[in-house]
Amino acid sequence: MTRLVVADTGRMPGCCDPGAYDVPFSEANARRDAARYRRRGLDRVSAAIVDQVVARGVEGRTVLEIGAGVGVLSVELLRRGAGSATCLELATTYEREAAALAGEAGVSDRIVRRRADIVADPAAVAPADVVVLNRVVCCYPDDVALLEAAASHARELVVLSFPRPDGLTRAIVAVSNAVVALSGTSFRGYVHPWTRMLDTLQRCGSAVRLVRRGLVWHVAVGVRPG
Ligand SMILES: C[S@@+](CC[C@H](N)C(=O)[O-])C[C@H]1O[C@@H](n2cnc3c(N)ncnc32)[C@H](O)[C@@H]1O
Repeated sequence: MTRLVVADTGRMPGCCDPGAYDVPFSEANARRDAARYRRRGLDRVSAAIVDQVVARGVEGRTVLEIGAGVGVLSVELLRRGAGSATCLELATTYEREAAALAGEAGVSDRIVRRRADIVADPAAVAPADVVVLNRVVCCYPDDVALLEAAASHARELVVLSFPRPDGLTRAIVAVSNAVVALSGTSFRGYVHPWTRMLDTLQRCGSAVRLVRRGLVWHVAVGVRPG
């Protein structure tokens, strides 16, 4: 079994009401994510992130996956030789599927899951060699604070995906915000300016490169000087 450590879930000033994340990221959503992964493996964006980490050396590395969902990046990086992984989530809905996937991959004893907002409570989680954020900055109102927190927890590498900032992604996010607003939740998605996000990582001491330009998702890497 993966270990779920529930950090102080009092007020998390960095984000909207953390309970709001359980609405769009429901247990049904978690079941779909896990089923898709079992059926088809990593999607292209997730595979691009894993490839970036593996290309820079994954053996024995510690991984912090922020906004992990069911934790497929951690599972894949552990399979490829990472030493241990910590999965951070705000939603409470992923735990059953995350534990099942980790068990099936035989990596349960090397994954810890925590519920915490790294912006509001940076001490909730220890630094790691590699920090990954897949489709997470678009789910958090303060991209600068989130990436500063991510960078301050990364000893070697930060890899993130984010929506390509154009009319298509803005339209997708606007429609999905309108749909989730109907449920009364305070959760909203965002298309943050990508130059600001990459500048933030750079200012925090990483050499930053955009390594994938997708129709919807871009991937960027920040390498800390060794
Ligand atoms: C679109 S989902 C992506 C899940 C997974 N990374 C994937 O690609 O399938 C974004 C996730 O980020 C989580 N999240 C957003 N901001 C977060 C934060 N500050 N700390 C931890 N999790 C966060 C949300 O709860 C949500 O589950």
